[in-house]
Amino acid sequence: MKQVKIGVLGARRGQDMIRFCMNTETAVLTAICDNSPKLQEMEAKYPNQGIRFFSDFDSFLQEADMDAVVLANYANDHAPFAIRCLNAGKHVMSEVLPVETMAEAVALIEAVEKSGKVYAYGENYCYMPAPREMKKLLKEGRLGKFEYGEGEYMHNCEPDWASLTLADPMHWRNRMYSTYYCTHSIGPLLFITGERPVRVSGFEVPFNDRMYRMGAQAGPIGTEIITLESGALLKSIHGVGPSENSIWYSIYGSEGRVESAREDAENGAVDLVYLNLTKNKVKNLTSYEPAYQGEEAGKTSNHNGADHLVMEHFVKKILGDPEAEIIDVYRAMDMFLPGLFAYRSILHGNMPYEIPDLRDPAVRERYRNDTSCTNPEKAGENLLPVSPGGDPQIPDSVYAAHRQKLIDNKVL
Ligand SMILES: NC(=O)c1ccc[n+]([C@@H]2O[C@H](COP(=O)([O-])OP(=O)(O)OC[C@H]3O[C@@H](n4cnc5c(N)ncnc54)[C@H](O)[C@@H]3O)[C@@H](O)[C@H]2O)c1
Repeated sequence: MKQVKIGVLGARRGQDMIRFCMNTETAVLTAICDNSPKLQEMEAKYPNQGIRFFSDFDSFLQEADMDAVVLANYANDHAPFAIRCLNAGKHVMSEVLPVETMAEAVALIEAVEKSGKVYAYGENYCYMPAPREMKKLLKEGRLGKFEYGEGEYMHNCEPDWASLTLADPMHWRNRMYSTYYCTHSIGPLLFITGERPVRVSGFEVPFNDRMYRMGAQAGPIGTEIITLESGALLKSIHGVGPSENSIWYSIYGSEGRVESAREDAENGAVDLVYLNLTKNKVKNLTSYEPAYQGEEAGKTSNHNGADHLVMEHFVKKILGDPEAEIIDVYRAMDMFLPGLFAYRSILHGNMPYEIPDLRDPAVRERYRNDTSCTNPEKAGENLLPVSPGGDPQIPDSVYAAHRQKLIDNKVL
């Protein structure tokens, strides 16, 4: 069997993709690139396996023998690296999020089109058992016509925040706005329905004590209310600063509802679905765990087996398998742009914003130079505050305390 040669940029999250390569016959890991001490960790973990190790991205791209690059670098830095890889003739699997600005969205789409290479967006939550089953049920017509859906990705990240951000006030996790990290909640809903979002209003929960303690500057929870092209509605909520965690999806069709289990029920969460097709008061409620539909070795991969599946389909797509299900660059934008425009909505009194369809080259012209974002390195004159009231003032002592904790725990 032909194997796809894969290089991984970013050896924190990237370890899940490295694990995929170790557990499949379809791909082989040829290179790892990271400019932090993670690289030495990887060298020690995978010696004598023909893998090359790079701390410099330029050398990695020029010298490593790879068909495809996995981008597991900083979340707000994917587009420039994806464009360079595509221009160098590599297929790309990008971690979340796909871009940071509208200008990057236009540039990325055009680079994908020009390259003719596979670009897959690694929104792994779409590949979790419940969303995959919901998509199947809707496609089979069991739920009737889609009318309304809800998605949640609530993650109290406080316990891990210092090690996630390495106590850097400018780390992307500390500078992202409330609705930036939106595709774990929105993505699966669009994956299930297959529809395009056309309009969004954004809302956020005010800055709280937890975010202050973490050193994160945004509102703790963001919300998008999205209208789809059919007129159907979605509600997405997500955040890194709520008190409790929740990954949950609910889909209402004209003939019934399917939803995943609530985490507090402690009975399976996204591994379990409840299908309710009750009609004329005749109860028809079933619950079951959908079967895993991927390589056996992927079942125990992280995120309920989804981390292996994302990569499995990416590799299948490169190998020309017509059954391969990837999230292409246009669908990546459908999943991400509602969060970007939701924040503009939040900054303007929650007014609705149209979500542009960048498939149309004429639409791209309006956004080609739009650099608005919360990252001073990219925004230029278009720098947005991280919170609607302006950037919250978090004293250096908060980050210094995190740094000390990391030193005590020998992380730094
Ligand atoms: N889909 C998921 O479930 C999931 C889970 C965790 C993280 N992520 C995503 O994974 C990505 C990485 O997140 P993370 O948690 O690993 O933390 P991170 O973003 O802090 O780590 C990125 C790693 O990439 C390295 N890196 C960045 N730029 C580099 C460059 N130019 N050259 C060499 N190395 C470079 C850094 O040294 C670091 O080790 C983010 O996009 C994040 O959104 C996704």
